[in-house]
Amino acid sequence: MTRRRIVVAGLLMGLACAAWSQRRGGFGRFSRQGDVPALAKSDAEKRILATLSQAQKDGELFANVSVSDGRLLRVLAEAAGAKDAVEIGTSTGLSGLWLSMALLATGGRLTTFEYDRGRASTARGNFKEAGVDHLVTVVEGDAHQTISRLKEPIDVLFIDADKEGYLDYLTRLLPLVRPGGLILAHNVDTAPDYVRAVTTNPELETVFAGDGGGLGITLKKH
Ligand SMILES: C[S@@+](CC[C@H](N)C(=O)[O-])C[C@H]1O[C@@H](n2cnc3c(N)ncnc32)[C@H](O)[C@@H]1O
Repeated sequence: MTRRRIVVAGLLMGLACAAWSQRRGGFGRFSRQGDVPALAKSDAEKRILATLSQAQKDGELFANVSVSDGRLLRVLAEAAGAKDAVEIGTSTGLSGLWLSMALLATGGRLTTFEYDRGRASTARGNFKEAGVDHLVTVVEGDAHQTISRLKEPIDVLFIDADKEGYLDYLTRLLPLVRPGGLILAHNVDTAPDYVRAVTTNPELETVFAGDGGGLGITLKKH
């Protein structure tokens, strides 16, 4: 076969593969999460997505999760059937909004902890705007103190506050996480003692995903 024929054959094969992939909704460009916006199934979801988008436009941001990490949180919480979700580090409420989308489906509730009064107030406004304020309790104050009020089993725990505090949150809240529950922790690259704890305990199974692998996903085994 001449060189030209080999190139043409290669091109045709590539086109055939691309067409096959598009038909199957497979690995084509538009099948990747980052390329496809989250789609609203209901008016309630539409309202949450609109609030998320408005908060971005208004610059109501402080170290919030990325859209793709937020969507991952939602998927995990909904798949876990979370009834009781706890978040350490509310900021302006964006991850709380993603979690709320799951909780709408599961009939669950979120308790979220934040020590900055301004950010807690912005988050409350966002939860109200999104129509999920009845699902969310924002607890103000230092979470190392205020988490002692938690008594109920936790289905999903999301840790996203002071990195040097991750191990304390884990140690104190792990007994409350139900078997089969999830402990999610953001930006774990900067919390090595936390990573050591969740990867050396045989009661736990931990994988890393999310943007840059920075989301620790830990299953508390049955
Ligand atoms: C990374 S931001 C949280 C982002 C939020 N989860 C989101 O994605 O929308 C961390 C937040 O934790 C709060 N924080 C840090 N240490 C805290 C503590 N000891 N108690 C309560 N909140 C704390 C900070 O004020 C900050 O708003």
